[in-house]
Amino acid sequence: MVVPGSQHIEDKMYHPPEGLQKDAHVPDFNCYLELYKKSIEEPDVFWKEVASDFYWKKPPTGQILQYNFDVTKGNIYVKCMEGATTNMCYNVLDRNVKDKNLGERVAFYWEGNSPDHHEAITYGQLLGQVCRCSNTLKQMGVRKGDRVAIYLPMIPELVYTMLACTRIGAVHSIVFAGFSAESLCERIMDSQCSILVTADGVYRGEKLINLKQIADEALEKCREKCLARLQTLLPDPYQTSPIKNQIKSRLSIPQQNLLHSRRQTPWDAACDVCWEEVMGQVSEQCEPEWLDAEDPLFILYTSGSTGKPKGVLHTVAGYLLYTSLTFKYVFDHQPDDVYWCTADIGWITGHSYITYGPLANGATSVLFEGIPVHPHVGRFWEVIEKYRVTKFYTAPTAIRLLMKYGLDPVQKYDLSSLRILGTVGEPINPEAWHWYHEVIGQKRCPVVDTFWQTETPRSGLLLQVFRRPWPGIMRTVYGNQERFESTYFKKFPGFYVTGDGCRRDKDGYYWIAGRIDDMINVSGHLLSTAEVEASLTDHGAVAEAAVVSRPHAVKGECLYCFVTLKDCREFNRTLVDELKRQVREKIGPIATPDFIQNAPGLPKTRSGKIMRRVLRQIARNEKDLGDLSTMADPKVVEVLFNHRCETA
Ligand code: WTA
Repeated sequence: MVVPGSQHIEDKMYHPPEGLQKDAHVPDFNCYLELYKKSIEEPDVFWKEVASDFYWKKPPTGQILQYNFDVTKGNIYVKCMEGATTNMCYNVLDRNVKDKNLGERVAFYWEGNSPDHHEAITYGQLLGQVCRCSNTLKQMGVRKGDRVAIYLPMIPELVYTMLACTRIGAVHSIVFAGFSAESLCERIMDSQCSILVTADGVYRGEKLINLKQIADEALEKCREKCLARLQTLLPDPYQTSPIKNQIKSRLSIPQQNLLHSRRQTPWDAACDVCWEEVMGQVSEQCEPEWLDAEDPLFILYTSGSTGKPKGVLHTVAGYLLYTSLTFKYVFDHQPDDVYWCTADIGWITGHSYITYGPLANGATSVLFEGIPVHPHVGRFWEVIEKYRVTKFYTAPTAIRLLMKYGLDPVQKYDLSSLRILGTVGEPINPEAWHWYHEVIGQKRCPVVDTFWQTETPRSGLLLQVFRRPWPGIMRTVYGNQERFESTYFKKFPGFYVTGDGCRRDKDGYYWIAGRIDDMINVSGHLLSTAEVEASLTDHGAVAEAAVVSRPHAVKGECLYCFVTLKDCREFNRTLVDELKRQVREKIGPIATPDFIQNAPGLPKTRSGKIMRRVLRQIARNEKDLGDLSTMADPKVVEVLFNHRCETA
């Protein structure tokens, strides 16, 4: 295990308890090695076996995996199950309900923000709701290949909508409901979504978030941008296409749990459609659209080191095979499990390991709308006891947050149902690992640490670069193949580069050390420093900004910002608050800077490049700055140390 910021390594081995191993899908290391070897040496045989669990309207015509990873040999591409036709929604729902007779099995225990709100949804009920939503979307004009923006909290309707898209061949683009109007607008525009699905609002803990209002603002921004674009494109009368893709209708979900009513929600009868009204009027039957294996399944935006978020595109067959297989093996899924992944579906972890992977396995999961500390800091443990959760998957940042409250909130609840624990999102530090293992897992639950990315739903291999693809690897950056190739494949021709550094120890284990590019991992969410810098320099007082990471006890890393002000602007508390608010509004609350420091000058190379390494050291108060010979004006360093922020 690597502690962030140090080289301390723990050597002790922890083995899973024998009882658990006995009945596992992969009971021991030799069995794992065999599987692993087969997947590498005979990938076609390996994936064909996985595919045989699912329904294919037409079988594949060629090799299961075809690819080119070498930019010097032409376009980069990956194809899985070429020639086959299938449907994701059919495989995760109809197949379970009709072929496996699991209609009565609970798919989701929905647990609301308040413990008083909960609901069990069976596979049969889920299928019915998804079909209704599919018919509704069709009625609203959504067709195969259209993009649908989804801006919803963790409510069952989020799952209904995403699966409805996959049923009719539409491409969902889910935007985490904590993002700002600006971020939502940017994402809608980039993938030219034709419909937006949102809800009135949501309570996150005590806080009410008016989603519909934010969504309206986002659409107003889209309209302005389209008009501006249109004006720059004139006078060519044929170049009017951007405006055509503008969202004309939005489907909105009234949230009964909210104290305010529809009358208080902004409503425009010309384009707003009420979920409750339309869902009741359509049929519960909907024939799935049979899609090509490589048809797009969804787009999910991830921060890019150059600023603009990248629309990571995934396709149908590969994503189905990959998420179903990794879910089954990594969590050793068994029919009597109650599984809970605490992520939000707005992130890739939720896409893969709340919706697709678990449903493809006929699993029973908890779908949690709330936060870990509401109405009390023992909420996670209470939910585990309530549903007798057996497999629990969360992030190091949540573990570090809950550790702070000590043992009392944990000991109030019965956690004896737990069998396997998982973590994802960032490297886990030994202290958090031990607490998770001892206090939550009571030393009997193995902890599976799962490294992966939005681009690569799960990679069992902890390597920084990959020589070959696997079915669940991203296919392109939506609308920008060039960016896809230059980001992931140009550095080392023939390899996919993850952007993470890693080390191999003497036993052959790989230790992921963190990002090597200009990305910061805050509470398991990747943020681009360039994007934060851009929103800081957007402020009238700021001439230049540089953002670096600083270790944070709970979040893992946090944002430390250096701002150089324009002449005659004064650096004070009010400005700092304004800047923080600006970043929040532009990107969203997760990007709120912890520190903003006045930087009369920035350390730069003679060629004018900001020396981020030096800024990182200043942020961390590390005095030994090493070689500064390339710096244009070394005097700025002392000034910056004098202006350092000690506390947030
Ligand atoms: C980091 C989240 C260490 C890594 C699933 C990766 C991790 C980035 C781990 C992807 C882990 C994720 N150990 N680092 N178990 N899991 N990361 O796209 O830097 O939001 O490249 O996907 O998170 O973040 P993303």
